[in-house]
Amino acid sequence: MKRREFIKTGLAGGVLALTGGRFIAQEARMADARIEILLDEPIGRIAPEIYGHFVEHLGGVVYDGIWVGEDSKVPNIGGVRQAIVEAMKRIKASVIRWPGGCFADSYNWRDGVGPRKDRPRRPNFWIDAREWPKGAPDGPWKYDPNHFGTDEFLRFCQLSGAQPYLAANVRSLTARDFYEWVDYCNSPAGTTTLAEMRAAAGQRDPWNVRYWGVGNESWGCGGSFTPEEYAVEYRRFMEWVPRYGLNLAFIGSGPNSGDLSWSRRFFGRLAEKGGFGRMWGWGLHHYSWNVTGGRTNDWFEGKGDAVKYPDEEWYELLSEANRTEKLITDHWAIMGEFDRQHRVKLLVDEWGAWYKPGSEVHNSHLLGQQATIRDAVLAGLTLDIFHRHADKVAMANIAQLVNCLQSLFLAHEDKFILTPTYHVFDMYAAHQGGQSLRTNVSASPLKYTINGKPATMRGLNGSASLHDRRLVLTVTNPDPKASVNTEVTIYGANVKEVGITTLTAKDVHAHNSFDNPRAVEPQTSQGAARGRALVYNFAPASVTRLQITLA
Ligand code: AHR
Repeated sequence: MKRREFIKTGLAGGVLALTGGRFIAQEARMADARIEILLDEPIGRIAPEIYGHFVEHLGGVVYDGIWVGEDSKVPNIGGVRQAIVEAMKRIKASVIRWPGGCFADSYNWRDGVGPRKDRPRRPNFWIDAREWPKGAPDGPWKYDPNHFGTDEFLRFCQLSGAQPYLAANVRSLTARDFYEWVDYCNSPAGTTTLAEMRAAAGQRDPWNVRYWGVGNESWGCGGSFTPEEYAVEYRRFMEWVPRYGLNLAFIGSGPNSGDLSWSRRFFGRLAEKGGFGRMWGWGLHHYSWNVTGGRTNDWFEGKGDAVKYPDEEWYELLSEANRTEKLITDHWAIMGEFDRQHRVKLLVDEWGAWYKPGSEVHNSHLLGQQATIRDAVLAGLTLDIFHRHADKVAMANIAQLVNCLQSLFLAHEDKFILTPTYHVFDMYAAHQGGQSLRTNVSASPLKYTINGKPATMRGLNGSASLHDRRLVLTVTNPDPKASVNTEVTIYGANVKEVGITTLTAKDVHAHNSFDNPRAVEPQTSQGAARGRALVYNFAPASVTRLQITLA
């Protein structure tokens, strides 16, 4: 059906009537917003790797969050918290980045292999951080016993069904150390001394790690390099790495948010020396942290509380996340100036909300924070941005998996809960591997006041993907107060039935806790459809998934 005819039919009364959920049978012209999904305008396949995670030896992420030890009373699989493994499988976790973060450029992989009892204890990279909660006790989060090393991490990935992404130490180790780590992980059984060492640890066959990061934040904690200096290091590290027949994917340490000159100068330098070699991805980092509307840019002063926020901070934080779209298109354009075929893809290998300390569930959890319905909206709108740029974004890793920045889980000893962000990953997993479709959302911007001045932010937003005759549409409504009545039009097919899943909360500060673990949970319903256009009322402060079966 042609686009214009379809609209005419819809307005003439062919409006979908659904009995369940919040669908309402009424004239489409009463809608406040419109979503148009164009079946014949594919953008690209949504890489499952967009649903990636990040685990760093930082506060309670590894010790307490993931690694409880084999002798723990907490149910575990070879020392790894069982509940986290099961939850990771449910959301189809695709890839996990490790061991950092800043920690990666201080880490010697040799400390974390061989018999656990013989491994050295080292001061953790983060030991001097000023954000440690008051009274933080000494323990493995400050003095790392290296009980969770390469094999433990790779086993965790295997159990979770995720691929590993290892970040090499560029600041304080040599390229040779990097090659030997690749040897330890990937050399065929029985071939090298390191392959035998791996076998002695219980892994005879190679782990076949494909994704390798060359440093982390090399502009900052990863060596404080200039882009030109980092280009030299990058080339040295990734040249002639033993491949053992694998299609290794090297990832360069990309820019800090809007630092376009880092991308331009690095790509310029690589281009001068014959191109991009085996570079597969360029890792952008973008955190949403400044809620002051420009009052300050101070890293510590600019942050807000994770749970107790005034209205203006709700809007500001989500606006910070909305910036991701422009960051992607800006860096992509610069990369294209040098890499005209766009052989190198963009990764967003650290993203999420970063609040000031105070809401952590235990005082050993450095950078630990609670997660509310606001974080769920942030996660939803960010994932929707990645889908809309599925032709550019090949991987993304939310920071960090558990007990840290925007976490999917909070855990302490035997207590373990899912955050609203986890539920978004669960709902959005349905997009993985689908064909992202052009999805035009027309909605009014939201108006608010900050620093005594009027401000606006983007309103309703979303993305759609096609999986044979099933269409997945996800939509975030960032308006904390008003629902948005929306006409959804699918150009190129009729609707048969709709499955609805919504995550919302009456209180915009709502979150899950050890005492109330199910305060924020998705609700599902089913709609029996007849007609060709549908109107749906998106609740305030919500994330919604519509799974639409096409006739
Ligand atoms: O995720 C916490 C830290 O943020 C990471 O270690 C670093 O890469 C980034 O600055």
